[in-house]
Amino acid sequence: MKQQLEQIEKSAKEALCGCASLAELEELRIRFLGKKGELTAVLKQMGKLSAEERPVIGQLANQVRSDIETALSERTAQLKSAAQAEKIKAESIDVTLPGKEQSVGRLHPLTTVMREIEEIFIGMGFSIADGPEVEYDYYNFEALNLPQGHPARDTQDTFYITENILLRTQTSSVQAHVMEQQKPPIRVISPGRVYRSDAVDATHSPLFHQIEGLVIDKGITMADLKGTLEMLMKRLYGEDCKIRLRPHHFPFTEPSAEVDVMCFHCHGEGCRLCKNEGYIELLGAGMVHPKVLVNCGIDPEVYSGFAFGLGLERIVMRRYSIQDMRLLYENDLRFLSQF
Ligand code: PHE
Repeated sequence: MKQQLEQIEKSAKEALCGCASLAELEELRIRFLGKKGELTAVLKQMGKLSAEERPVIGQLANQVRSDIETALSERTAQLKSAAQAEKIKAESIDVTLPGKEQSVGRLHPLTTVMREIEEIFIGMGFSIADGPEVEYDYYNFEALNLPQGHPARDTQDTFYITENILLRTQTSSVQAHVMEQQKPPIRVISPGRVYRSDAVDATHSPLFHQIEGLVIDKGITMADLKGTLEMLMKRLYGEDCKIRLRPHHFPFTEPSAEVDVMCFHCHGEGCRLCKNEGYIELLGAGMVHPKVLVNCGIDPEVYSGFAFGLGLERIVMRRYSIQDMRLLYENDLRFLSQF
């Protein structure tokens, strides 16, 4: 029996040395020290021993048990600290590594300038009117004194959904909507997308943006139009900015004008940017044609008004010295991230 006990101790210690996990350790504890374990099996045979042998073997058995227990707890501690070290290593953070860069979005230059212009007009007491991009022929042309067959329609060819429904070619289409819905005094701007069947090049796109302005009240004159646009341009380009009106023709305004702004690069001297003109053409404008007022149920004997249509792309391109309009629509981040 003595041999058996010594053998148990020896094989328990060997097994513990080779054991690699806490679960295995528990199995070993049951195998050697458990109720049905090897040590208990030996002790059960104590009855067969003589009275002299019994205390000797009993003492040895106790010694073996406590040796195995000590070895078990030492191994447990070893394995636990190894597991802890492993965990710390796996979870460690190297604070010297470079961080992950968060890319932050920004406004498109068209949006930035559009909002800036909206703010300027809101400051002058205008409100913002919205209109559909898919529009009836009536609002885009007919109501604006451009009946079927009018030659001016040729310059604004567009995309037709049906014979009567088209993609609007100008934000002027919002004028009639507003006049049908509101009584004067009216003071609105209407920014938005417009469409024309133009071929794409550095200065043309089948989709671009306009900002329409419309003011209707008693006693509105061309001077109000000029003052309003002057104020806009001063806010956009600085206090010393000047504008000039050139006679022009639009079917829905009379008289009509094209409005140029003094070249902010050469201040009117003439340079490459303004093609030696000293001025740059920015928008069309005029006094709302009496026929348009009548079409929209407003009495031209009582009320008068002005309207203008501003090309947003042109302003953005001048502002940031962008030579090619296509850059504004290509969504190339190398371009967009400069703004
Ligand atoms: N809608 C005109 C265009 O696109 C511009 C304009 C608007 C002219 C309002 C006069 C009055 O060319």
